[in-house]
Amino acid sequence: MSVRAATAAPERSQDMRVFIAGGRGRVGSRVADALEAQGIEVVSGGLEDGVDVISGKGLAEALAGVDTIVNVLNTPRFDAEGAISFFEGAVDNLTAEGERAGVRHHIVLSIVGVGEGDASDIGYYLGKVAQEKAVRSASIPATIIRATQFQSYIPVLIDQHTVDGRVLAPRSYIQPVELDEVVDLLAGAVTAPEPGSAIEIAGPDRFFHDDLFRATLAHRGDPREVVTVDGQGPVEAMVPRGAYRKGTVRYPIAGIPTA
Ligand SMILES: NC(=O)c1ccc[n+]([C@@H]2O[C@H](COP(=O)([O-])OP(=O)(O)OC[C@H]3O[C@@H](n4cnc5c(N)ncnc54)[C@H](OP(=O)(O)O)[C@@H]3O)[C@@H](O)[C@H]2O)c1
Repeated sequence: MSVRAATAAPERSQDMRVFIAGGRGRVGSRVADALEAQGIEVVSGGLEDGVDVISGKGLAEALAGVDTIVNVLNTPRFDAEGAISFFEGAVDNLTAEGERAGVRHHIVLSIVGVGEGDASDIGYYLGKVAQEKAVRSASIPATIIRATQFQSYIPVLIDQHTVDGRVLAPRSYIQPVELDEVVDLLAGAVTAPEPGSAIEIAGPDRFFHDDLFRATLAHRGDPREVVTVDGQGPVEAMVPRGAYRKGTVRYPIAGIPTA
């Protein structure tokens, strides 16, 4: 990746300049690579770049001459108060400074299922709901892309479900997607002629959480026990319920029963 740091005000050499909020993160760095491969100029906006979307430090300078914001920010705060104030506050600040800079499109990456069913009780998801609501009602036209869990993120998800050494897994659906397919969708939204309202993407196969977790742990030689627990919401809470883009890259472990 060769993202330009946000501090210098570069001369505008491309037709399009894109600000990636979270440009050095897991998703952001790959979106930056994908856009740069198309000759699109990228300004990375993360703490490491001297940009703080919450305090506003460096934001006005970083947004100078920007057409489009790709918002792939993240927070380690999983409590509702922390997650809501981060995701909502970031949209508010990006909108205020973006409007001054003439930004015409704000693309946000969210998660399939947030705000639907009981999944919305999870603090982090409430933050994502607040993020979606804020960007939808903001003055800059928005596209919300909602992805299911990334395939590469499943081991982290398993850790998040681990209590006292045992993995507590609901018997509900999960349809993990390959990150590059999400990146393609985000990059495509940047060059789309018009902002869209919402697009969902999921992987090609639907599993149950407990089956997926067991197979993933077995494949990694991880001895943790997976205990099937009652789900907190409807079985389809975290998978698309309407039209969506279906990825083609299969989960890298074969033989897991599909749901
Ligand atoms: N994981 C999944 O399966 C999944 C599925 C669907 C959607 N998503 C969504 O994908 C998004 C991106 O996730 P990710 O895994 O790429 O996150 P990540 O790797 O943790 O990256 C987060 C980025 O946010 C930046 N950041 C944090 N606080 C900031 C602040 N105050 N000001 C400016 N930048 C700040 C970080 O900058 P520094 O590095 O400089 O600190 C980092 O670049 C999240 O919104 C998540 O909800 C994830």
